[in-house]
Amino acid sequence: MITGKPFLTVEQIQNKVKELAAKISEDYQGKELLSVGILRGAFMFFSDIVKLIQVPMDIDFLIASSYAKTESTGEVIIHADLRIDITNKHVLLIEDIVDTGLTLKYIKEILLERKPASLKICALLDKKSRRKVNVSLDYIGFEIPNLYVVGYGLDYENKFRNLPYIAIFKKNT
Ligand code: IMP
Ligand code: MG
Repeated sequence: MITGKPFLTVEQIQNKVKELAAKISEDYQGKELLSVGILRGAFMFFSDIVKLIQVPMDIDFLIASSYAKTESTGEVIIHADLRIDITNKHVLLIEDIVDTGLTLKYIKEILLERKPASLKICALLDKKSRRKVNVSLDYIGFEIPNLYVVGYGLDYENKFRNLPYIAIFKKNT
């Protein structure tokens, strides 16, 4: 079940998206960007933020999963790889949430082998206290405590992704 009021409201999320997009636009001035959305969780965040980033860009997607229920398995599966060759491109990975860090660390390693001109990471949510491996994030929306959250793309067993805000999910026990 999800608890009553939003943990992060539509307005809080949209303000943060604007803030991040402004910073990214400034940092990539004069460059061309390849924005990579990590599906499925990042689909809403991705579509909101790319609209506000003011540099020329290509977009692509990677479908990855690492999660069984609410516990990270540590295994990362790439269900669909990028279609664009990222060699010599400025790549910005756009992710919904970083928990243990295992997913991003794995994705980062395989993408770095393809020799992009640069590779940065933008994550809407950061559960820093849960980190198992070190992965540096360049743009962070909100640092959140160890709670399981759903909505705005994030799911529990594939449900709740369509909520426009972010809510705390609690298992019925
Ligand atoms: P990590 O590999 O442990 O960092 O896990 C990252 C992935 O787990 C994210 O991309 C999400 O898909 C999922 N995940 C982690 N925490 C949550 C949460 O609180 N709600 C929904 N999905 C989560
Ligand atoms: Mg994700």
